[in-house]
Amino acid sequence: MMTTDTVLPVILPDGQTVTEVEHYTDRLFLFRVTRPASMRFRSGEFVMIGLLDDPHPETGKRKPLLRAYSIASPAWDDTLQFYSIKVDNGPLTSKLQHIKVGDQLILKQKSVGTLVHDALTRAKRLWFFSTGTGIAPFASLLREPETYERFNQVVLTHTCRDLADLKFGEELIEETKADILVGDEARHKLFYYPTTTRETSAKMGRITTALEDGSLFKSLNITDFNAANDRAMVCGSMGLNTDMKRILENYGLCEGSNADPADYVIEKAFVG
Ligand code: A2P
Repeated sequence: MMTTDTVLPVILPDGQTVTEVEHYTDRLFLFRVTRPASMRFRSGEFVMIGLLDDPHPETGKRKPLLRAYSIASPAWDDTLQFYSIKVDNGPLTSKLQHIKVGDQLILKQKSVGTLVHDALTRAKRLWFFSTGTGIAPFASLLREPETYERFNQVVLTHTCRDLADLKFGEELIEETKADILVGDEARHKLFYYPTTTRETSAKMGRITTALEDGSLFKSLNITDFNAANDRAMVCGSMGLNTDMKRILENYGLCEGSNADPADYVIEKAFVG
């Protein structure tokens, strides 16, 4: 029986329930939410998610506070995974970092984005270049069977400040190679190239430097990086986007889009 003291859960418009939360560092965490039965998306796309803002001091009304988040799980998965930074004074992530299993968050079902197979033409190799939480859309695409149907070799590069920031990617590679759907192909075709820029590790420095001085290709034994063989997707900081565009175009690759597929794509909506 309900009493006047009963606290009812807040039911949000477009609300989905949090089913898993994992904190990697004091700056990074992962969470999973339920997936609406009617929701369709292409691996690599992003959606708007968020929470209600604090009540307005006069009206008491609460507005949705939404941000673009890449879906980190593949299109076939029955839940939705997200990988997020925590910013103490960030309007959304200062609150989002405290979510717990059973909480609700707002999820707008419309998904969009340029980091999709439809935006690239076929070639021999596919490169995923990421920094920080920019690895999220590639966590989706690495577990997408189409990735291995379309390419003979897939390389994920992930650059972070510190070793602890690489853990999500390391686990992702292990899970992908053990996956029942894509594991067999991934064990042959998938290469992982993690680097750190602040803490000492086996491979240090920005990926842009490794591309320009050739050390990336040398360590992977690749001598024929060009527009005939290679396709690339880029996701990370604004600086990475600008630098990668210049570097890839110097190698002769042309930017593609959903409407006009070509050699490389950059996710401009990504914030992280
Ligand atoms: P750096 O430490 O040299 O700035 P952040 O944590 O600030 O989002 O950065 C994530 C990673 O991306 C860091 O290792 C950072 O290196 C790297 N990074 C930042 N800007 C660029 C850029 N323009 N090109 C390549 N890597 C970058």
